[in-house]
Amino acid sequence: MLNLGIIGTGTISHQFIEAAQLTQQYHLKAVYSRQLERAQNFLARYETKNLACYDDLKAFLASDFDILYLASPNALHYQHAKAALEAGKHLIVEKPAFSTPQELEAILKLAEEKSLYFFEAARNYHEDSLAVIKQFLADKTVVGANFSYIKYSSKMKDLLAGKMPNVFSDKFSGGALVDLGIYPIYAALKLFGKPKSVNYTASQLANSIDLNGNGNLIYPHFHIALRTGKNYDALNHAEIYTRDGTLILNHIQGISSAHFRRHDGSRKELTLPEMEHLMSAEAKHFADMLNHKNETLYQTWLEDARSASQILYQMRQSAGIVFEADNK
Ligand SMILES: NC(=O)c1ccc[n+]([C@@H]2O[C@H](COP(=O)([O-])OP(=O)(O)OC[C@H]3O[C@@H](n4cnc5c(N)ncnc54)[C@H](OP(=O)(O)O)[C@@H]3O)[C@@H](O)[C@H]2O)c1
Repeated sequence: MLNLGIIGTGTISHQFIEAAQLTQQYHLKAVYSRQLERAQNFLARYETKNLACYDDLKAFLASDFDILYLASPNALHYQHAKAALEAGKHLIVEKPAFSTPQELEAILKLAEEKSLYFFEAARNYHEDSLAVIKQFLADKTVVGANFSYIKYSSKMKDLLAGKMPNVFSDKFSGGALVDLGIYPIYAALKLFGKPKSVNYTASQLANSIDLNGNGNLIYPHFHIALRTGKNYDALNHAEIYTRDGTLILNHIQGISSAHFRRHDGSRKELTLPEMEHLMSAEAKHFADMLNHKNETLYQTWLEDARSASQILYQMRQSAGIVFEADNK
């Protein structure tokens, strides 16, 4: 059993705890909030025996747990992750793990020095369905793809009312690309490896942060068109074009159905593994890695996390999206 600590009292932390509990490999131990009452409210729905709340980060990190699930706003991940590693905790960091590739490298170096594990919670990368799709494509020649994740944000109301939610703030490293565009990027890394170059253009706020945008992941023999956004809904998520026909996925994350449409119009359904919970595959993979250590696989995850971070940075640069963290 891995004893679990939590930073971030938003909805996603409840979802991760639910998924972690389904794996039966985690035991919720402690939660940190800037306000004790919020931590207590957060824990109200769980069995409270042996559960501790903290509003003091140092005391929380000194308490008895093995692995931290970190879901604070993006720009705070680095300082929270660094403090957690220094306190001897393994790390699960919500996507996007860090604001810049430099922050990621600093954390990877520290994790290695401390013999601790770092995992980026890019949940679609760990979905078993992507492995099935990769296998299906193995004997086909891919000629292009169209990946998009565009969802109207619950924070748009605040933004339109003149407020600045964290997810649209340059101070907190927000924006559509890093929040939702990262899912198409991770799917592309899993299916096709690292692109040779990338670009991105966006509709931007005055602070340079993107509301939506279009980009390309450029591979030697094909391009993936990437679309992302937070100010409207798009329902067509993922198509992969091959010489023999088109593979159509219901989504680029939480992939539950896929079919192949041949050029003659005939159709083949793919059988995809059922998902117990959107986050249970990643929760299980992280626990399995800590329990059974597979160094080759772990290094692949780290390389893909590095690639994702570099791609986000290069795409931001091509669109002129600047975070406060870029100047640190
Ligand atoms: N995997 C997924 O499907 C998924 C979905 C949603 C979000 N996420 C990721 O999860 C992370 C958190 O997202 P979110 O939307 O929950 O963020 P958020 O609401 O802006 O903040 C999350 C938590 O961080 C603390 N916090 C907020 N503002 C803070 C500040 N200024 N200084 C210090 N702490 C602050 C708050 O906890 P306290 O007030 O208790 O301290 C809050 O509950 C992000 O990295 C996001 O990309 C992932």
